[in-house]
Amino acid sequence: MRHLIDIMDLNVEEIQELIDVANDIIANPDDYAEKCRRKKLATLFFEPSTRTRLSFEAAMYELGGNVLGFSEAQSSSAAKGESVADTIKTVGAYADIIAMRHPKEGAPMVASMRSDVPVINAGDGGHNHPTQTLTDLLTINRVLGHFDNITIGFCGDLKFGRTVHSLMNAMSRYENVKYVLISPDELKIPEYLRYNLLEGHNIEYVETQDLESVMPELDILYMTRVQRERFFNEQDYIRLKDSYILTPEKLENAKKDMAVLHPLPRVNEISTAVDSDPRARYFEQVKNGKFIRMALILKLLEVE
Ligand code: CP
Repeated sequence: MRHLIDIMDLNVEEIQELIDVANDIIANPDDYAEKCRRKKLATLFFEPSTRTRLSFEAAMYELGGNVLGFSEAQSSSAAKGESVADTIKTVGAYADIIAMRHPKEGAPMVASMRSDVPVINAGDGGHNHPTQTLTDLLTINRVLGHFDNITIGFCGDLKFGRTVHSLMNAMSRYENVKYVLISPDELKIPEYLRYNLLEGHNIEYVETQDLESVMPELDILYMTRVQRERFFNEQDYIRLKDSYILTPEKLENAKKDMAVLHPLPRVNEISTAVDSDPRARYFEQVKNGKFIRMALILKLLEVE
């Protein structure tokens, strides 16, 4: 039985296989309409979500399966003090596969150790978000057609942004990928990533606070929201929340074929005036999230 807790649980061949299946689903959706008939997905969301939960649910429905679950901890027996381990053991009696989001880093890992069915990490605190990364990789693959030889700018909250952490890990396995890390001092990447990933693997990277000066170098610009829910102090959030606001003017020096990605939700960090720019790919990303999660469900349920 396989779980997906960290994007590094999948090797690059498996990631390519998921991308290929997702592309085939996009081209031939009817071929997949009955693949998960009589299978059930449980979505256990202890933290808010729009895209991840609904795309998982839409994915299972489009595979012919069914969905059960909860969208907030308060409507589950966690509110009465039930442990994650007991919750997961219980839900495994009703569902064939579980997607779980939790505010505590490592909670889905603990869940997987007690589970009788595959567990997918749908985001754990400020740590990881592997299925967002699969979504990002499918989008990059469909836009650029390759992962090697690209410069990717990560902009905004690189400290708490779990989607950044997972995507940086994933991209580290491709050739000649350069990272440009754009953030205020207080929101730089965690030290464990700097030492274990960037310096540990000799990855080429630069850090800057100035988005416009690096814009012409970028093949991908990955914008992120400042993660209000992870701050201990509201004053710090208010001071930092509008550090970067992408506007059409700031894109003037960008490559014509650069792609702007964002895991969403956005607050102010991308002006809505950017949405009509052909380089704005974040709503395509939203669509891709459903298709790659369909491919992942098929893989973890070992459906041919
Ligand atoms: N990208 C993402 O995780 O969005 P949600 O929080 O809406 O699921």
